[in-house]
Amino acid sequence: MTRMVSIRAFAKINLGLQVRGTRPDGYHDLQTVFQTIALADTLTFRACDGPFRLGCTRDDVPVDEHNLVWRAAAALWKALGRTSRLEGVTVDIRKGIPPRSGLGGGSADAAAALLALTRLWRAQVTAATIEKIAADVGADVPFFLCGGTALGLGRGDEIYPLADAPPSPVVVAYPTFGVSTSDAFGWFDADRASGRAGDAVDASPRGPGIWRPQAAGVVNDLEPPVLRRHPAIGDALRRLRAGGATAAALSGSGSAVFGLFPDSHSASSAAARLNRHGWTSLATRTLTRRQSAARYQQPARKRRETSAP
Ligand code: C5P
Repeated sequence: MTRMVSIRAFAKINLGLQVRGTRPDGYHDLQTVFQTIALADTLTFRACDGPFRLGCTRDDVPVDEHNLVWRAAAALWKALGRTSRLEGVTVDIRKGIPPRSGLGGGSADAAAALLALTRLWRAQVTAATIEKIAADVGADVPFFLCGGTALGLGRGDEIYPLADAPPSPVVVAYPTFGVSTSDAFGWFDADRASGRAGDAVDASPRGPGIWRPQAAGVVNDLEPPVLRRHPAIGDALRRLRAGGATAAALSGSGSAVFGLFPDSHSASSAAARLNRHGWTSLATRTLTRRQSAARYQQPARKRRETSAP
């Protein structure tokens, strides 16, 4: 029996996010393009005696049933027909993705948990069951089962895989605070109700550097309402654009922003400059669907079967 599964949960950025309306269930209808990036959490699942337990390298991440990994595990346990208390696994989460940043860390972890536990438990479940559980756990979770470049419709949970976007260096920058997804959508609604939606706070070129027209190519409808409440985020967007980003935008509901760069050298320089100006920033890259599927960290004897990106 498999006693341990170690898996990487890659982050995402949104290469555009359009809010198309509100839904009867209180959510918003979206049209978004998700893109996997190489930034990742690593989760290790170990079979053990006793209750289900979660541990995490960050103390601002809940390690109880509020964690999406816990909820995903509980939902899979139930789908397998088990009525007893969730037990027999300890999970260690090594965070590389900042929480509440719009990079999908919690959702990526939940999707990774569904895949890893299916393996650990040798569960006979269909892909459709896993996808249903994923969508119930959170609107972003189904994307992380797919990875690469994908269109998200509905709540963002109806996933249509797209041809991989051309590989690109990416700089991600995030402030010391996070943004709650429900707050961001609430601000969007409030601004729209007051006739403000769409008047982009940061649409015009400001600050030093060359404005590249492509930088307007990625539009996130949540950006104006979030930047209005957190103007500091606009500073990072301006610095990314001034540093040579061909496109820069808020990721999801923030608080992280990202820039696409033409080469890894300009990406590293821009990340270093942002770090000097008080932003936590790192240079990473987009991953294709195939690269994002190489997520298992396997023991040496199995390494031949899958190759890491
Ligand atoms: O599904 P998830 O728990 O990630 O969503 C968090 C919150 O974000 C929801 O409770 C809702 O307020 C908001 N949301 C939304 N429309 C979406 C996705 C999320 O209003 N499509």
